[in-house]
Amino acid sequence: MKATTISMVLAGVMCMSMSTVAQADKHAFNDAESAVKYRQSALSIMRDNFAAMAAMVKGEETYDAEVFNNRANDFARLSHIPWDGFAVEGAMPGDDTDALPAIWDNWEDFESRANQLITDANGLVDAAASGSMDEIKPAFMAAAKNCKGCHDQYKD
Ligand code: HEC
Repeated sequence: MKATTISMVLAGVMCMSMSTVAQADKHAFNDAESAVKYRQSALSIMRDNFAAMAAMVKGEETYDAEVFNNRANDFARLSHIPWDGFAVEGAMPGDDTDALPAIWDNWEDFESRANQLITDANGLVDAAASGSMDEIKPAFMAAAKNCKGCHDQYKD
């Protein structure tokens, strides 16, 4: 009985980790060019949602709880997407990418940064649901830190 409970918990943990960032040997792409295009598109749409929220956090746009909520949910969903496009080792055709080779030399660090973004994006969804800027602001800043942190290390 006890062993069953433990293995069920373990199975749950494995499912959770699989649903975050894809394993390097189970990628969706066979050619580098489509992997690069895919990840850049995903990062752009992710950024569009993040920028829309930034405008409200900074007070440049009037805060609208429903719009913010939708943006936060889209952002959280999108935060899972780009990383599959990095799973082809050395997917760097020509000058079409700003990804640095350091990514594939430090894959575990890159992956954990991607997972941290996913975690913080989910935190932002919870904060958005509160409808309170006092909760949203710190959650937004926590998510934003991931962008610069990873770009400083791994983006040209
Ligand atoms: C785990 C690392 C990592 C995190 C976290 C991360 N990025 Fe990036 N980002 C990259 C890398 C690497 C590239 C370069 C991709 C390429 O050119 O192939 C990039 C590129 C981009 C681009 C350019 C896409 C294009 O069209 O070329 C945008 C926009 C972007 N990131 C936005 C963001 C935002 C906004 C966040 C935070 C909410 C974020 N990124 C978090 C690694 C990261």
